[in-house]
Amino acid sequence: MTNTVIELKGVNKSFRTAEVETRALTDINLMINKGEYVSFTGPSGSGKSTLLSILGLLDEATTGKFKISDIDVVDLSRDQRAAVRNKEIGFIFQSFNLISDLTVEENVMLPLTYQKGVSRADMKRIAAEVLTKVNMEHRMQHHPAQLSGGQQQRVAIARALVNNPSLILADEPTGNLDSENAAAVMDILKKLHDEGCTICMVTHDPRSVKHASRNIHILDGQIQNNLVADETGAKVAAVEEGAVPCT
Ligand SMILES: Nc1ncnc2c1ncn2[C@@H]1O[C@H](COP(=O)(O)OP(=O)(O)OP(=O)(O)O)[C@@H](O)[C@H]1O
Ligand SMILES: [Mg+2]
Repeated sequence: MTNTVIELKGVNKSFRTAEVETRALTDINLMINKGEYVSFTGPSGSGKSTLLSILGLLDEATTGKFKISDIDVVDLSRDQRAAVRNKEIGFIFQSFNLISDLTVEENVMLPLTYQKGVSRADMKRIAAEVLTKVNMEHRMQHHPAQLSGGQQQRVAIARALVNNPSLILADEPTGNLDSENAAAVMDILKKLHDEGCTICMVTHDPRSVKHASRNIHILDGQIQNNLVADETGAKVAAVEEGAVPCT
């Protein structure tokens, strides 16, 4: 079995709106191995979310090659892409994206309801397991509005884990949190990485970058290097020994 979770070759992405074409990504070449924790940094509008959406099969590249866990996803039908997404990928968004009418338990169970053959009892058991992982098992019957931002994000992480995905994608997961809750979320991601999860995380926060084993800096839709400079020009993250360079 391959050790590569993500393989992008020559990926480009353009958005066409009315008469305007925006080039969001240019010639992205990227390999991410099983168990890596990769952070993505770059200025606003540089293409980070676009790249994450492509990695998560929420959007399609305009041109280029793309494999997830050795599955060539470029030529898959809509339904096949949805099946791969549901099986292989867990998402964590800046704005939590929980469904307000559902309880914590129901929110976490939701991805399992799209899978065939999972009994209600199994869904409840798995939901309890992942909610315990993020210390939210005591809030199972609450609704999202009854929780703090940090608690909502922990529930969203539990929901991302419920399918036991091969890849966790997080787009600024601490962007709406105060520093204490942000640290709690980063601790959970670190724990998941220690357990072997593969994680890709977009972040603006140099403290979050330090948790990752590799940083990829994006500028004007292109991968720059594995080091990133903060506003003062200081390097805030270095490639760990043994990490695979991305360019
Ligand atoms: N659906 C879309 N239609 C048209 N243009 C888009 C669309 N989504 C993104 N873009 C453009 O693609 C470029 C990259 O956007 P993207 O959201 O990936 O940036 P980002 O690095 O995530 O920025 P931020 O840090 O502000 O979240 C921008 O110029 C943006 O305007
Ligand atoms: Mg973004």
